[in-house]
Amino acid sequence: MRLIERAGLSVLGRFEPELAHRISLRVFRAGLAPVSPAQPSPRLAVNLSGIDLPNPLGLAAGFDKNGEAIGPLLKAGFGFIEIGGVTPLPQPGNPRPRVFRLKEDEAVINRLGFNNDGAIAVAGRLSARTECGVVGINIGPNRESSDWTADFVRVLDACGGLVNFATVNVSSPNTRGLRNLQATEPLAGIIDAVMETRDRLANKPRIFLKLAPDVSGDDIARIAETALAGNVDGIVATNTTIKRHGVTSPLAAETGGLSGRPLRDRSTRVLSQLHKATGGTIPLIGVGGIFSGADAYAKIRAGATALQIYTGLVYRGLSAVGSILGELDALLERDGFETVAQAVGADQESGN
Ligand SMILES: Cc1cc2nc3c(=O)[nH]c(=O)nc-3n(C[C@H](O)[C@H](O)[C@H](O)COP(=O)(O)O)c2cc1C
Repeated sequence: MRLIERAGLSVLGRFEPELAHRISLRVFRAGLAPVSPAQPSPRLAVNLSGIDLPNPLGLAAGFDKNGEAIGPLLKAGFGFIEIGGVTPLPQPGNPRPRVFRLKEDEAVINRLGFNNDGAIAVAGRLSARTECGVVGINIGPNRESSDWTADFVRVLDACGGLVNFATVNVSSPNTRGLRNLQATEPLAGIIDAVMETRDRLANKPRIFLKLAPDVSGDDIARIAETALAGNVDGIVATNTTIKRHGVTSPLAAETGGLSGRPLRDRSTRVLSQLHKATGGTIPLIGVGGIFSGADAYAKIRAGATALQIYTGLVYRGLSAVGSILGELDALLERDGFETVAQAVGADQESGN
């Protein structure tokens, strides 16, 4: 981490977390985000469900909820970025404070509740963008809506033609009842409606499904089966957890989804179970607690084709993207892998 970034993070750490985040987005929009210095190693290039990525590390949903800093974020070295969660209508989310830094645990708890500018405003920003790069959108329903399936369709209708992929978020813990959509019947209904809408769009985005880490082994097998039957293009594992295992901070009792270091192994386990359940037939995107190249590599070996990060950036800054990728490249080389694809699911095959 460069000195200026270390100083910046230390100043931001003194602000209330949500305000600090708004300031950093402003800074990025002003063109002051770190620009990735080097072309990534060719070993890191991956194909994610037909989408070519220069490297497997993406920005996770929730960081740029409204698509305000797409250009600067693409230049920071991510292989792809996911904006959102976006709902059909704008909504304010839950009362503040609603984001908490658990420094002792290198974790965050958030209960934002899908605060966002709504699909029309975000579609406007997506169509105004001039930068190249792979961009996806995380989609969800309005809290007060009486038809959540229709809400996923509305956001996809408004924004789907402007992105490379859309992620159906049935896993945020901050909208009451949302995670119940992971049950077979509602999930199959949503997938059908979303796929039908996607097929109507001239520019067809890939459709990913994002899961919670708090699902049992049986649930994972059932969800995998439903996703495969619905021809989903990929599964993102995982969202934040409502569990607090291994968390020591006094803020642990705050309500909301926990992300960062304590989530890492739980979400890697879900990833591994999903890889087994899908037999490696659809790509998986591993997210949860990535701070280092070793964390990223473990998720690839458990079955991830691509990765995403959020909380690691809160503690390590945007320059973590370059260092994680450099470390990952070295680990792949050490173990004799010429591409990321060769390492996907390696632990599964070796029975680790
Ligand atoms: C403040 C905050 C807001 C988030 N908002 C969303 C969201 O809108 N949609 C979503 O699917 N995930 C959201 N997430 C979850 C992340 O995308 C990611 O799945 C999770 O934080 C685990 O990754 P990490 O440990 O690298 O942060 C959010 C996470 C945080 C910390």
